Amino acid sequence: MRLDKFLCDCNIGTRSQVKDLVKKGMVQVNGTVVKKSDIAINEDTDIIEFKGERVSYRKYVYILLNKPAGIITATEDKRANTVMDLIKPLPVKDMFPVGRLDKDTTGLLLITNDGDLTHKLLSPKYHVDKTYIVTTAKPVSQSDIEALCKGVDIGDDKPTLPAKASLLPDGTLELIIHEGRYHQVKRMLEAVDNEVTALHRSSFGPLNLENGPESGCWRELTQDEISKIIIR
Ligand code: URA
Repeated sequence: MRLDKFLCDCNIGTRSQVKDLVKKGMVQVNGTVVKKSDIAINEDTDIIEFKGERVSYRKYVYILLNKPAGIITATEDKRANTVMDLIKPLPVKDMFPVGRLDKDTTGLLLITNDGDLTHKLLSPKYHVDKTYIVTTAKPVSQSDIEALCKGVDIGDDKPTLPAKASLLPDGTLELIIHEGRYHQVKRMLEAVDNEVTALHRSSFGPLNLENGPESGCWRELTQDEISKIIIR
């Protein structure tokens, strides 16, 4: 791999910034300052340092964000703060959220640069469960729960697929779905003549927020979490 591509992929800067930094002598390869950014390096065996600190190449990075309310799920927006604004500095470039949570929805959002995994995680074919804690305007009855579990008409071609729903001791609803239709949970509650007043995603597949991070914060997935989420 070329040194400039390696440094760009590690989010050190753009191609032209990286070229400049190398020219200024800020990059070392195996302990030697290099001045040309188009040289070939071996990203597995060479030791690359920028300002004296080791730069490690990671093809894929997986971040777990505890999204606060009021932030939109997008990679960029001219007016509003996006979830990407909460993750600074980005460990690698070209990261994006896996699916979306509405502006007022809180909780678990996965962010990665692994497009293939994203595609699989969002495909109904792989049945990745998403757990939502739903606060509703009115109490949810037993017959509502049965309807939500069976599938409800939310105005699409087909009713929602079978889900799991149960009432928690505090009166909120725990709803587990494996589809990801637009505003799905809000529309499911509308279908049973109710309204969502707060929505929190507490888990996504094998991932949950039990070990943090706090709202508004993020952390990289552990190796164990990565191995659980990867679909081959
Ligand atoms: N369903 C919704 O209605 N909103 C979300 O943010 C996620 C699921």
